[in-house]
Amino acid sequence: MKRLIAQKVMEALLPSLSKEQCLQKWIKVQAHAQIHPRVKMQLPLRYLFQEKASKEELLQVGSEVTRRIELDDQVIGCDISEKDNGPCLAFYVDSRAFVESTILEFQRHLKMGSCIPHLKREWSEKTVAIDFSSPNIAKPFHMGHLRSTILGAFLGNLFEFLGSRVVRINYLGDWGTQFGILQEGMYREGTKEEDFQGDPLHTLYQLYVHANQLADTDPQFAERGREWFTRMEKGDRDALQLWDVIRTLSVQEFQKIYDRLGIKFDHYDGESLYNKSWVEGILEDLRRAGLLMKDDKGREVVSVSPKGQVVLVKSDGSLVYLTRDVAAAMDRWERFHFHRMFYVIDNSQAQHITSLVEILRQKGVEWVDRCIHVSFGRLRGLSTRKGTAVFLDDILDEAKLKMKHQQALSPTTRDYTEEVADNLGITAVIINDFKQRRTKDYDFSWDRALQSTGESGIALQYAHSRLCSLEENCGVSLPNQWESLSLADLGLNPQATLLAAQLSRVDEVMEESVARLEPCIIVKYLFSLRDAVNKAFKVLQVKGEEEATAMARLALFTSARHILAQLLKILNITPLRKM
Ligand code: ARG
Repeated sequence: MKRLIAQKVMEALLPSLSKEQCLQKWIKVQAHAQIHPRVKMQLPLRYLFQEKASKEELLQVGSEVTRRIELDDQVIGCDISEKDNGPCLAFYVDSRAFVESTILEFQRHLKMGSCIPHLKREWSEKTVAIDFSSPNIAKPFHMGHLRSTILGAFLGNLFEFLGSRVVRINYLGDWGTQFGILQEGMYREGTKEEDFQGDPLHTLYQLYVHANQLADTDPQFAERGREWFTRMEKGDRDALQLWDVIRTLSVQEFQKIYDRLGIKFDHYDGESLYNKSWVEGILEDLRRAGLLMKDDKGREVVSVSPKGQVVLVKSDGSLVYLTRDVAAAMDRWERFHFHRMFYVIDNSQAQHITSLVEILRQKGVEWVDRCIHVSFGRLRGLSTRKGTAVFLDDILDEAKLKMKHQQALSPTTRDYTEEVADNLGITAVIINDFKQRRTKDYDFSWDRALQSTGESGIALQYAHSRLCSLEENCGVSLPNQWESLSLADLGLNPQATLLAAQLSRVDEVMEESVARLEPCIIVKYLFSLRDAVNKAFKVLQVKGEEEATAMARLALFTSARHILAQLLKILNITPLRKM
């Protein structure tokens, strides 16, 4: 329907606007109100202009369209209405034609595997590198890592869906003086490889905490730690032996959690990859270019705005987090020639990324603007039975346990398995997080996350499984071609029209979500889709209806289920057929 309207606008405007301009713009048509038996679709007039235009210009073009547009039995009216975002063209579409064309268009797109061809054109074959999750070895996997993990997974799915080549990078925090300190701790305690059997992450964490306490109180201990790290930087085999064990075990443990979430990384390229010998060449370049200079404390610094001087080499010659990030960016460019590189890291590192980008800019790399910080706020107050949550699997276990209780108590439970409980727990945590804008801080509440109605993940899964069970039990099945169905009559029903109007919004939703790198756009949309589905359920009986009616209704519900399932998958959630 949008295509048809766009075509008409184009025809009405051809004398004053180029065909390309019009064709580009048709996508922006928005389906809004659901006025039965007419559906109102709005097109902000400014979308018809490449550049900023005055209100008079907008109105002039608008009235030209209203005068010249050819109405028919599908597009039945057109006028100009005033909106917050300026004057809009309002098209009135016959609701029967609207519902029919929406469902058929949807089926066509489904067969092509996409409802957003123009976005696919823009992103397919582009390389999108995503640096996400990136926990620190020997330290807790904290809330920031949880948010980074699910947000990065979402971006990966989103761009993969658009046809991009996605490179998922886990930039493990596996390097730095703290590992020398850990090494000294292990050395003094006589720690051996076998000691990590059982629960390696917790064991490692205890060792880490203990060693750092010692380093804080005992300068000699700290000094020995630094010596260890210097040896590690030089690639000393003995010094690296235990570190190797720790790293391998940690990656194995992290991988278990990622498996549970259905996430696969292409590269576990941690900070350790960028050791001193690796980085030296880059530092040399910076020195030669006069960007890296010695300060009065003997450190080597770069001046970046607005922060001022940032250290890349400490006075004892050791390198820091930022130095390694500069090296990592250069390396990734060499390897992937990315179209975008997303750094999915919390707001607290905004300055770090600004400095990184600034250094790359001064270095003169032409791809600097492709590096984007996808930042997010703090999540507060997530705790489990064991106390304040520090390990991700504790959180997922807690969610699962709570879901199991809830499932056991609910009279509607149909599938009561470990997998379903685990899935629901994960769904709840993800949707609860993606409900708000990513940059916002928020307080976690288990009650809110796990509620089974309203704006929750459980409610979305419930809607999906209800649609699946409708398909299975309604007594009719859909033909391969939907053109023969009597879809238009659905348009006589306000609830069906409302649901179709929601379906027709999916491409705008995707477009906005991609432009803002925001899962909340999709989640909000899913809640309104779910509301429309629930309302339609109340009035559009399928089972026991006359066949033509039943099939048309089923086609509407099936379209809704496909969208729900596809978008849940993009959010890194496996849609449940039964729960
Ligand atoms: N390991 C870091 C942390 O836990 C996050 C790394 C993010 N990525 C990066 N390229 N700096 O804070």
